[in-house]
Amino acid sequence: MTNQPRTADTPLPEAFQGIRIAPSILSADFGKLGEQITELMDAGARVIHFDVMDGQFVPPITIGPLVLAGIADQVHDAGGVVDVHLMIENPDRQFADFAKAGADSIIFHEEATPHAHRCCHAIRELGCLAGVAINPGTPVEVVSELEGMVDEFLVMTVNPGWGGQPFIGTSPGKVRRLRSLVGEEVLIEVDGGIGTSTAGRMSDAGATLMVAGSAIFKSDDPAQAYRDIDAAAQPGS
Ligand code: DX5
Ligand code: ZN
Repeated sequence: MTNQPRTADTPLPEAFQGIRIAPSILSADFGKLGEQITELMDAGARVIHFDVMDGQFVPPITIGPLVLAGIADQVHDAGGVVDVHLMIENPDRQFADFAKAGADSIIFHEEATPHAHRCCHAIRELGCLAGVAINPGTPVEVVSELEGMVDEFLVMTVNPGWGGQPFIGTSPGKVRRLRSLVGEEVLIEVDGGIGTSTAGRMSDAGATLMVAGSAIFKSDDPAQAYRDIDAAAQPGS
């Protein structure tokens, strides 16, 4: 896939606009990954969250560009996007491979590199949305000098590395502080412990993209779970 470089003025793809739930395939059944993605996209999902772990930045090892290339056309053909969350050391070494494999956004961790500004520029040059994630113990102020460089901030609402952990209760306040720091235009994503009881609190706090893994894929009916979380996240619900 050859993308035009992005700038601060490039509009967001439609799939990233509004309040969205992004199913995280970390908790999917990889033996029937394509089928599960179809089921969720038929239920309305447009952002598929793709968690990459390297056994260094976080202990587990998960998936990489080969798996991304295997699902990207399916997601794009259904009008969706793939949101790639890199929980890895030296993230800049991997941006080009993920962009080539079909990533629409590439999120790296602020804690994984001293070169956040350069990383954002490099991701946009590849035509992807530039995303910066922060861990629960990282203050929102660390991103204050990245104005105009970032398309998507990701606030971890659990410690990165595993699905199914409990939501950290101080997260809504943290998202409010980040929203007032970065303004209204930038995407704010939250990741970890999101379900029907937390999605509304996070959208009220200013998050627009909510990742949900186990609450969707570990339920008996993932499509219905997706719809329930989506309904809980919408304003006024
Ligand atoms: C965790 C990952 C998440 C994970 C969330 O490090 O970044 O995307 O899938 O899982 P749940 O929704 O189960 O907390
Ligand atoms: Zn994630």
